[in-house]
Amino acid sequence: MNSPLHVAIIMDGNGRWGLKKKKSRNYGHRQGIKIIKDIAEEAIRKKIKFLTLFTFSTENWRRPNSEINYLLNLMSEYIDSETNKFIRKGIKIKIIGNINKFPIKLKKKLKNLERITTTNKKIQLNIALNYGSRQEIINAMNKFRKKSLYKRYT
Ligand code: IPE
Ligand code: MG
Repeated sequence: MNSPLHVAIIMDGNGRWGLKKKKSRNYGHRQGIKIIKDIAEEAIRKKIKFLTLFTFSTENWRRPNSEINYLLNLMSEYIDSETNKFIRKGIKIKIIGNINKFPIKLKKKLKNLERITTTNKKIQLNIALNYGSRQEIINAMNKFRKKSLYKRYT
């Protein structure tokens, strides 16, 4: 069977999984982020060219601050420890979603990760951060409004 060109995964259930293991939600998050590399490697083996992971959504800001901070720190730590692996394995990282609300240090790390993996060719890993379907529709409408096409219909 031919592999699909693009696979998208919504990360979900990590917190519940941690609790089910009689640990914490944060433990689940830590294990969840670790698995990203395995998923990307398997996708490369399967010759999938685009892998999109939906991770932190706009709705996730409603969680307790302690959990949000844990997740943001986890991302930061993850970038520090995994960047070299992404480069070595030919993984190009693209951040999708609006990261403006993220702490400046993390934003810089994310931008840097995109920049230094930009010429990688094995697979493109899209990481959706602070994404939301509502926001996507608003963004698309705003883009559409800017185009002359819109004027023809108004
Ligand atoms: C996915 O797991 C990771 C994030 C959204 C940050 P969840 O955090 O959604 O875990 P559950 O669904 O509450 O168990
Ligand atoms: Mg969930």
